[in-house]
Amino acid sequence: MSVILSIIYLIATVTFIVGLKKLGHPDTAKSGNLIAATGMGLAIIGTIFIHDLQVPTIIYVLIGIAIVIGSIIGWLIAIKVEMTKMPELVSLFNGFGGASAALIGIVEFGNSDIKTTSATIVATILSAIVIGAITFSGSLIAWGKLNGSVKSVVKIPQYNIINNLVIIAIIAASTYLVAGSIDNPIFLYAILTAGLLYGILFVLPIGGADMPVVISLLNSLTGIAAAITGVLYGNMVMLVGGILVGSAGIILTVAMCKAMNRTLFSVIFGSFTASEGPEGTNKALGSIKSTTSSDAAIMMNYATNVIIVPGYGLAVAQAQHVIHELEELLVSKGVNVKYAIHPVAGRMPGHMNVLLAESNVDYDLLAEMEDINPQFNNADVVLVVGANDVVNPAAHNDPSSPIYGMPILDVENAKHIVVNKRSMKAGYAGIENELFYNDKTSMLFGDAKKMITELVAEIKNM
Ligand code: TAP
Repeated sequence: MSVILSIIYLIATVTFIVGLKKLGHPDTAKSGNLIAATGMGLAIIGTIFIHDLQVPTIIYVLIGIAIVIGSIIGWLIAIKVEMTKMPELVSLFNGFGGASAALIGIVEFGNSDIKTTSATIVATILSAIVIGAITFSGSLIAWGKLNGSVKSVVKIPQYNIINNLVIIAIIAASTYLVAGSIDNPIFLYAILTAGLLYGILFVLPIGGADMPVVISLLNSLTGIAAAITGVLYGNMVMLVGGILVGSAGIILTVAMCKAMNRTLFSVIFGSFTASEGPEGTNKALGSIKSTTSSDAAIMMNYATNVIIVPGYGLAVAQAQHVIHELEELLVSKGVNVKYAIHPVAGRMPGHMNVLLAESNVDYDLLAEMEDINPQFNNADVVLVVGANDVVNPAAHNDPSSPIYGMPILDVENAKHIVVNKRSMKAGYAGIENELFYNDKTSMLFGDAKKMITELVAEIKNM
């Protein structure tokens, strides 16, 4: 029996690694997801049915009911969720992963006699509870922030000191338990509560552009919590799966920190303060120049090089198909078109790549920030669609700006800049954008889908 189970786990582990590798490119991502999900399904079936235990039928019935309910809820959420809400969903899933690890820890604590169980096992159980609890509460706060139900940045006075005290208390109480000095379950619940509190205190003060990094960090913690429960049960597939999620999450976290020119330390311990969103013309920055779709269409139709900069607004407007139509139309007229992709454009890692792949934009037309930045000098027209923070020159020019130092797309180097958005409202970071007041910039106000559709119609008539 156990040989068959080991083979199943081995197959599942290989599918996770192959799946992860395939997720690295839009063309293979779907099949990668399917392969890894099949491996996970196999591992679940193997774990439930292949063992030497005497399991009463009622347990199988309960497991079956839980799987059916969970699958229906997961399926409904997955088919309903909009692309722009994906980070919220990821946050929620992270939270559930953490909660599972904490619950496993609590159950196993109840199953063991603390006075006789080895210190290593007690430490493992406690790690699952603490990391799981932090991930659960932290992810729920991140979810609330992303959907607007939790105020973006909640400032807690001396929160670093409070956080450190909570962590010290967790370590002290855990040491007592690990040493077998005490076996009162109240201690365990106090540790659980402190873990939950730490998760809340850790995420509440973080805001603005730092949220993607935090979500990816919580994702990584979910993986670590799963790996710990794998150690607890001596279950290889849980261990490997957890390590893969944990390490992928850490790599992504570091990559995003790099993309935003921030250290992980400053994200976690520094507080990102966003100002209130500006509206209307800003006297200090000058005045803006608005344009019409027919004027913008003329400019693009007679250009040699056009660069499109997609941002969150493109996703909100679901304008990915019509932007592809515009690109094909311009190419058919002999214009060189490229898309400039900023690593944190949108609301989740790779958001723009996924969105444009959905409308079959040729992957070769998507240029990473480092590759496209030197090319803005040669661009006749840059069309910024629903992007704001990722093209904000304050990142270069204003040391007092919260995004100062973050690498941006250097669109201001182009000959003409057309910015499409609906108003003068700020982007995610809640700050002014001097690009909109640049002499070379024309604002094309309106919903992205509507305005790009108008551009297509105008160019078709030329
Ligand atoms: P943002 O700075 O958020 O700007 C998006 C702009 O789109 C807004 O200024 C908005 O202006 C406009 N917009 C919204 N709906 C629109 C519509 N229907 N049609 C046209 N325009 C529309 O976006 P960005 O430049 O892509 O930057 C991303 C920001 O999100 C960064 O600060 C980043 O750190 C943060 N973030 C990123 C991620 C990841 S991992 N990618 C995750 C969470 C947060 P109007 O309201 O005036 O239209």
